[in-house]
Amino acid sequence: MAVRSASEGILSDDNAAKREELIGMLQKPYWMELETVMSYIANSINPDGVRAQEIIESLQSDVQEELGHAQQFAQRIKELYGVVPGSLEFSAEQSYLQPPEHQTDIVHVIKGVIEAETGAIEHYNRIIEFTDETDPVTNDMVIAILRDEEGHRRLFEGFLREYETEGLA
Ligand SMILES: [Fe+2]
Ligand SMILES: [Fe+2]
Repeated sequence: MAVRSASEGILSDDNAAKREELIGMLQKPYWMELETVMSYIANSINPDGVRAQEIIESLQSDVQEELGHAQQFAQRIKELYGVVPGSLEFSAEQSYLQPPEHQTDIVHVIKGVIEAETGAIEHYNRIIEFTDETDPVTNDMVIAILRDEEGHRRLFEGFLREYETEGLA
């Protein structure tokens, strides 16, 4: 007996085209999260100086959170009958999170993190809009992840504010 397809929702045959499009939209954040893991590992270890410690600790815990996001996106790709891409398909984009010339340049790191989080927030809002009517599960998942990213960005905006107040950023 053939396995029956779902008759309703994003897993139904009628929604195959929409599902394909969505899988494409979920592959990008999968790479974004993984690149963020790489960038946050580097930037949680490279910085020097007394004031770097808060940034280091914050990025250390973010590494685990962003890794968890990547796993959630991968899981959802599979649930939608997609395939999680292999590493050869990866191409890096986070030019703004490369190691600064001086490892005491904390402002560079803070601004890079804000840029990465902003990019994620923009893309995740697009996915939320796209899935609003057709895929409540992806919608719900990405809303929760969006909240994490908004929290990350707000924290680093606060760090930047401190440097701005002192005329250092
Ligand atoms: Fe994330
Ligand atoms: Fe984040």
